[in-house]
Amino acid sequence: MADAEGNIEAKNYGIGIEPERGNFFLKGCSNLDWGVKYRLGRIFNPKSGNTVMLAFDHGYIMGPTSGLERVDLSIVPLLEFADCIMCTRGMLRSSIPAECGKPLALRFSAGSTILTELNDECLAAIEDAIKLDACALAPMVAIGGEFEAKTVKNLARCADFTAKYSIPTLGVTAVGKNLSRDSRYLGLATRVCAENGATFVKTYYCDEGFEKVVAACPVPIVIAGGKKLPEAEALELAYKAISSGARGVDMGRNIFQSECPKAMIQAVRGVVHEGMKPAEAMELYRDIAKN
Ligand code: R5P
Repeated sequence: MADAEGNIEAKNYGIGIEPERGNFFLKGCSNLDWGVKYRLGRIFNPKSGNTVMLAFDHGYIMGPTSGLERVDLSIVPLLEFADCIMCTRGMLRSSIPAECGKPLALRFSAGSTILTELNDECLAAIEDAIKLDACALAPMVAIGGEFEAKTVKNLARCADFTAKYSIPTLGVTAVGKNLSRDSRYLGLATRVCAENGATFVKTYYCDEGFEKVVAACPVPIVIAGGKKLPEAEALELAYKAISSGARGVDMGRNIFQSECPKAMIQAVRGVVHEGMKPAEAMELYRDIAKN
């Protein structure tokens, strides 16, 4: 069981065979409690089955990240275009209007910063997530990193909270400096999150074999955008991820660091919810940006 070498390689992914959805629109979720489904139904659009989550939690490890120096000025004008927001409780309380009405994926783990060893994290108190009406708890999970065991324990604790309070757990896969973002690694990290009780998982897109990562993860996957790319490339990335089975994006820098964040988030919505091809979405971006 614990052999790391010499195992038969996983290969029967059933690509193209849709998993049975049962009585709910998201895969792997039909046996969950009503409250979990209710919150997932606020994060994901039941019509498209997808979500555009706007992530701006970067400051919790990076400080005043470019584009997030003033969240009140850069992020608040984008809220109307997001299906869900992902941030820390500090930024939520200080800078996000309580009347915005957007479901919250709360950054629920905290610890070290980019100045030291990342991912040595603890969890916040569940009572605070309940007070904030969080629709998801989002702990960092660093598979293969120095703090792997600690972060998996944090995830398992969140899954206990999901079972008790019906707040979904979003497993956030971290990629350490020395780990590659290939399908083998991402497949392992996302599957470990799902096996330990994540309701849905956030990970990164990879060009080779991403459909295998999606197929082997029994719950929905959303992708992070990663470092800022030219707008056309970021739209292409979102398109390829959705085409390979991702159920949405949890995107930050490629939106709030864009030349025109308002146009970019709407173009991303075009890809995620309306099935726009990258070129069409880019045209939408240009049209909105020039006005
Ligand atoms: C992930 O752990 C970070 O906290 C961000 O939420 C995530 O990486 C998404 O942002 P970006 O699209 O900028 O990568």
